Amino acid sequence: MTSSIKISPSILSADFSKLGAEIVSLDKAGADYIHVDVMDGHFVPNITIGPEVIKKLRPFTKKTFDVHLMISPVDKYIEQFAEAGADIITFHPEATNNISDTINLIKKQNKKVGISLKPKSSIDLIRDYISKIDLILIMSVEPGFGGQKFMPEVVGKLKEIKKIISEKKLNVDLEIDGGINFENCKLAKEAGANILVSGSTIFKENKGNLKKNISLLRSN
Ligand code: DX5
Ligand code: ZN
Repeated sequence: MTSSIKISPSILSADFSKLGAEIVSLDKAGADYIHVDVMDGHFVPNITIGPEVIKKLRPFTKKTFDVHLMISPVDKYIEQFAEAGADIITFHPEATNNISDTINLIKKQNKKVGISLKPKSSIDLIRDYISKIDLILIMSVEPGFGGQKFMPEVVGKLKEIKKIISEKKLNVDLEIDGGINFENCKLAKEAGANILVSGSTIFKENKGNLKKNISLLRSN
């Protein structure tokens, strides 16, 4: 079980003045994926980076770029993010008028499809699409900023989705994002998450010892 856990460090907590070097460090430290938080100042109250930056970062690692789009409307940018080097493209159902169309747009680019649920977003929004996607990203903080406190109330949702995935024997990854630390990572794993996103814990704990922090999140 533990060995199948993947760690996806969020570069939102990295030093933005040297993102390339930070990604190399994460790669060497044993990250499985690189989590890239894309924010537009409209879907969420913060602005981060876009496809042009991702394209520039792509040569620094061969690891999976796990791109979390917090932008709306999302459809018109899918192709650009795919071309920039995203491997997994995750969107929020509230950011599109037609979830099926967005899924198909991502598939047309031969990228893995993820759908993300904010803490208050219901599973009902995505129930019909679970068998058509590769990943479900459960947010355990309100999207927008790193360094927030984990919301334990999302654990129930995590368990419920895990149950659907298991019952239907689907090949869908379950990712948790927001406020993950060395303690609550256990809770998230027990509830069924197999990919853990972490920004603050990985970059700030143990004086920023990335390798130690990644391996603690994996093994705890
Ligand atoms: C929040 C982002 C998260 C966040 C994770 O909108 O989606 O990826 O940066 O950072 P921490 O681990 O600091 O909550
Ligand atoms: Zn994220």
